[in-house]
Amino acid sequence: MSDLTRRKFIGQTALAALAAGTFQAPFIRTARAGEPGPNDKIRLGLIGCGGMGQGDLKCFFGNPEIDCAVICDVDDAQLAKGLEICDDKRGKKPDTVKDFRRVLDRKDVDVVLIATPDHWHALPMVMAAQAGKDIYVEKPLAKTIDEGRAMLEASRKYNRVVQMGSQWRSAPHIIEAAEIIRSGKLGKVSLARAWAFLDWLPTIGHVADGPVPPGVDYNMWLGPAPERAFNQNRFHFNFRWFWDYAGGLMTDWGVHLLNMASMGLPPENPKSVSACGGKFIFDDDSETPDSLVTVYEFPSCQLIWEHRAGLNNGLNNRSWGVEWHGTEGNIILNDAGWELVTEPKKANIPSQKKKSQGDPRAAHVRNFLDCCKSRQQPVLNLEVGHRVSSLAHLGNIAYRTGHKIVWDSVAEKVVDDHQADKLVSVKYRKPWHLPGMRRA
Ligand SMILES: NC(=O)c1ccc[n+]([C@@H]2O[C@H](COP(=O)([O-])OP(=O)(O)OC[C@H]3O[C@@H](n4cnc5c(N)ncnc54)[C@H](O)[C@@H]3O)[C@@H](O)[C@H]2O)c1
Repeated sequence: MSDLTRRKFIGQTALAALAAGTFQAPFIRTARAGEPGPNDKIRLGLIGCGGMGQGDLKCFFGNPEIDCAVICDVDDAQLAKGLEICDDKRGKKPDTVKDFRRVLDRKDVDVVLIATPDHWHALPMVMAAQAGKDIYVEKPLAKTIDEGRAMLEASRKYNRVVQMGSQWRSAPHIIEAAEIIRSGKLGKVSLARAWAFLDWLPTIGHVADGPVPPGVDYNMWLGPAPERAFNQNRFHFNFRWFWDYAGGLMTDWGVHLLNMASMGLPPENPKSVSACGGKFIFDDDSETPDSLVTVYEFPSCQLIWEHRAGLNNGLNNRSWGVEWHGTEGNIILNDAGWELVTEPKKANIPSQKKKSQGDPRAAHVRNFLDCCKSRQQPVLNLEVGHRVSSLAHLGNIAYRTGHKIVWDSVAEKVVDDHQADKLVSVKYRKPWHLPGMRRA
């Protein structure tokens, strides 16, 4: 077969598979012209230069091959902070823009780092994938499950290397604990519990609507979210307590902790989810619950999520953690490390303790950059990112409806519950439209 005939044959086979709906683009491939080779510089475009964007930028600069070509934010004050970081770390200032599409147009951007509020993760990510960029996108993957699905499909379709920024996936002590559990040494693990008790989180109080601060493109900040007057309480950082933009602590901290918990559990999807909670602590403008308990029923085990916000003078021993309970022992893990407690007569492993090695963000970013070069998928690729983010979203859907959610994980649909199923997706404000979103 000549080269041309072979290519034609492969093309025809792929087309036939496409028509039959059986075609799967290969997820992993080798670097192509224009993508960073092992010794090349990686040129960054940052979208969203707030608290996390600035932290991530510093972390990326910890790697010698990183240069920053452009920073995008809708707020001049945030752009100025990003420029200061670049000047400090590299002795030069990148370009600044307020429209993220101007980042994606650029040929001198290899990697896009997205650290916008949750309602602004999906569209820049999908468009960055279309533009052939690799992407580091902050957690939770998106504001809804449907957006997460569109992001996963885009990463596959355009063969992009994508890491979700839930850095604990790269923490050596958590990886080690998860390996012990998955090796079967705890026996049958039938229950896991994850929690975040944030006794440092203050109330946001009540703030009236007000004028848009100078230097802010508020319409662009709202983007696909519903139009409304400007309110400082819904803006930087505090957006996370409002349903139009995010999902409260269930998705903010829940994604991190459910991510850790699932590292030690079988890769199953939940059959049902129920939740109860409310605003028991804060009397303020926030909409999301300050207290929540969510119960996930998996085919082979149960997972419980608990969160509570509000000052209690640091009475909680540890602010967050995960515990896995097996027939032959338990592991309790928190920010300090983990402890394995076994039944001396039964267990095939001794009790032991391990200290945490500190903030895993540098390792998580390094894993992503290595993958940009090797064209492998990172540890928190979108298969995993979509799965753990969906768990958190389902908790919020159960809470918001007050219903026990029966989840069809193949169709990604709530069974026989139209009200709950509507929350699996989100309607975008015009003219914004997310390519690939099923229930747009
Ligand atoms: N991995 C972690 O541990 C971690 C920690 C904190 C936050 N986060 C995530 O990072 C994201 C940002 O959170 P944050 O606390 O930094 O919020 P923030 O409000 O401090 O920062 C968000 C920034 O995005 C900018 N922005 C909004 N719309 C934009 C647009 N269309 N184009 C460009 N910029 C835009 C805002 O002006 C702001 O500067 C959230 O999704 C959050 O969940 C992750």
